[in-house]
Amino acid sequence: MSNRKPYVGGNWKMNTNSDSSSSLARGVAEACESVQGSVELVVFPPAPYLIGVRSILNSRSSAIGVGAQDLYFEGDGAFTGEISLAMASDCGCTQALAGHSERRHVIGESDELVNAKVKAMLDGDLTCVLCIGEKLEEREAGKTNEVNERQLRTGLADVGQRQMDNVVIAYEPVWAIGTGKTASPEDAQEAHAHIRALINEMFGDDVAARTRIIYGGSVKPSNAATLFDQPDIDGGLIGGASLQVEDFAAIAKAASGA
Ligand code: 13P
Repeated sequence: MSNRKPYVGGNWKMNTNSDSSSSLARGVAEACESVQGSVELVVFPPAPYLIGVRSILNSRSSAIGVGAQDLYFEGDGAFTGEISLAMASDCGCTQALAGHSERRHVIGESDELVNAKVKAMLDGDLTCVLCIGEKLEEREAGKTNEVNERQLRTGLADVGQRQMDNVVIAYEPVWAIGTGKTASPEDAQEAHAHIRALINEMFGDDVAARTRIIYGGSVKPSNAATLFDQPDIDGGLIGGASLQVEDFAAIAKAASGA
């Protein structure tokens, strides 16, 4: 049993509206109250709803964190459509995702752009959840570890050892996201162990032992516990199931027992 605090994030992606984001925040605050001490819980609502969700969680004295799904690395200026770190902080965000596969493969972000975002988040004292993972054709070509290594090394280039305290790694195999296909606990564990070994090589064994590596890709109440029981899986980044209060709460509970 590791002494890493389990982490469960709810990535709402481009879902919800003003009413449903508020009721989801209220529901999650209530349903997850009992596990808040034993699991770090964070929700990542769409940008327009960050302030509303944060204020609902504050009004319930909830320990659930709020994070941005993406941030631009520049401070301010002529970057139409982008959101800065200061804006996210103003809205009550303490965390942000970087390099989600939908940003990499739908929007076209490069490993280098992801690295610039990671560094900006860490320099701005936000916790950064760096998402990595291989596509189906890469897995079938036996390139899982190679892709994870490239995305990890480039994503964390020029990140200092101390800054790693504010980094969570999310391993999200692209073929498992939103498809209902989950990596088997053994396959996920193998990828997580490889990622931890790389962190060890890059930052030393203390950092490797402390860093949370969470799994994402069709995590549901029915498969969460067996995934979280693996020695190198420290929680999950949840998409679809994070939009259902009961499912998200059940997954958070599974993490609290792992
Ligand atoms: P699903 O849980 O919907 O597969 O999404 C996972 C994900 O991408 C979380 O960031």
